[in-house]
Amino acid sequence: MDKLRIEGGRPLVGRVDISGAKNAALPILCAALLCDGVLRIEHLPHLRDVTTTLDLLGRMGVGVTLEAGGAVALDGSRVHTPVAPYELVRTMRASILVLGPLVARFGEARVSLPGGCAIGMRPVDQHIKGLEALGATVAIEQGDIHATAPRLKGARLVTDMVTVTGTENLMMAAVLADGITVIENAAREPEVVDLAQCLVAMGARVTGAGTDVITVEGVAALHGATHAVMPDRIETGTFLAAVAATGGDVSLDHARADTLDAVVAKLRDAGAQIDATPDSIRVRMDRRPTSVNLRTAPYPAFPTDMQAQFMALDAVADGTGVITETIFENRFMHVQELRRLGAHIDVEGNTAIVRGVARLEGAAVMATDLRASASLVIAALVAQGPTLIDRIYHLDRGYERIEEKLARLGASVQRVAR
Ligand code: UD1
Repeated sequence: MDKLRIEGGRPLVGRVDISGAKNAALPILCAALLCDGVLRIEHLPHLRDVTTTLDLLGRMGVGVTLEAGGAVALDGSRVHTPVAPYELVRTMRASILVLGPLVARFGEARVSLPGGCAIGMRPVDQHIKGLEALGATVAIEQGDIHATAPRLKGARLVTDMVTVTGTENLMMAAVLADGITVIENAAREPEVVDLAQCLVAMGARVTGAGTDVITVEGVAALHGATHAVMPDRIETGTFLAAVAATGGDVSLDHARADTLDAVVAKLRDAGAQIDATPDSIRVRMDRRPTSVNLRTAPYPAFPTDMQAQFMALDAVADGTGVITETIFENRFMHVQELRRLGAHIDVEGNTAIVRGVARLEGAAVMATDLRASASLVIAALVAQGPTLIDRIYHLDRGYERIEEKLARLGASVQRVAR
């Protein structure tokens, strides 16, 4: 198992290219199941979760052709097995995103029911309830969600809470349904908008994506299209937070500040200078950061996927920061590991109180989930002496070549095999 060895204490300086967004790429890949034409996807990030999804689609019968420059062509004309097996779903919960497209196009799907995960229970009841409202019959059989439907029928759907993949699954199911579907309390995340744009390019009739009411007018069939995946706002935010913590001057290319308002505002509060164009962001930091308070919530509020990275920032900031996590019930696994580096953090329920320290010290730590790993990388970049981060397969699920990107900015980072 690979580890990451980071020798901290250097400012980050230079340019970095932001990859396509993991959380947009995964649903967009699954949209290939909706048509018998070829869906070409550009700016696909090279990540383990993307490889897992391609593997899953390939097993179902989707033709997968990798092209030069990070594009892929998916041919959905010969799908033969509408099944997502446990061995893949348990490594990647987002496999649930095949459920809506499969039922919509083939009238049947068998998707292993995802279990809980490191950050919480994460049920998929809203996905199931929505599909049932669209006319599907859903049963849990031997740990699988088995859904069947003749043709889905448009309906008014109201989810109990804002769910990102739930909204995406139901939007994909509705595009081939008979009649009009209205999804209320829809997630407004930019990745939902990116998926909607891809679906529209495939001939779907979707309006309102980016608001909390999405309307889908079902069509009989979709066709092939080409779509470029949006830049990854969480990778972008992670690099911004890293520079705010270490100091330095970095330009992020192929980055969209308009998808990161809440994060940029907090970084400015912390003392970072941020200048943006429509497709690039420059961040400069020339002093110790000031602590910030934050509360995670659905978009456009502060993203839960940036909470751990900001905890690392607060850990070295001047002052005390209060961080409240409202989306997932167990998303403070990084606290124990940050403490090993010398951070002062107290947790009370879903709130962490972070008293900034002037100096962290390198140590051996363990990555527990994807974004927790990113927070350890940031803390290690600031710490004095070497830090060895174990279990970085979590990091590889969501960050493309992170050690190369950081090394190019002047960090001392090496991947070491055990
Ligand atoms: C997506 C993102 C993930 C991010 C999360 C919240 C992808 C592939 N993943 O995950 O990176 O952290 O949004 O921004 O896009 N819930 C239910 N029942 C459901 C669905 C959700 O109770 O049927 C709950 C969840 O347990 C959680 C909350 O709703 O507490 C929000 O979860 P959701 O938005 O669905 O997260 P994901 O789509 O799984």
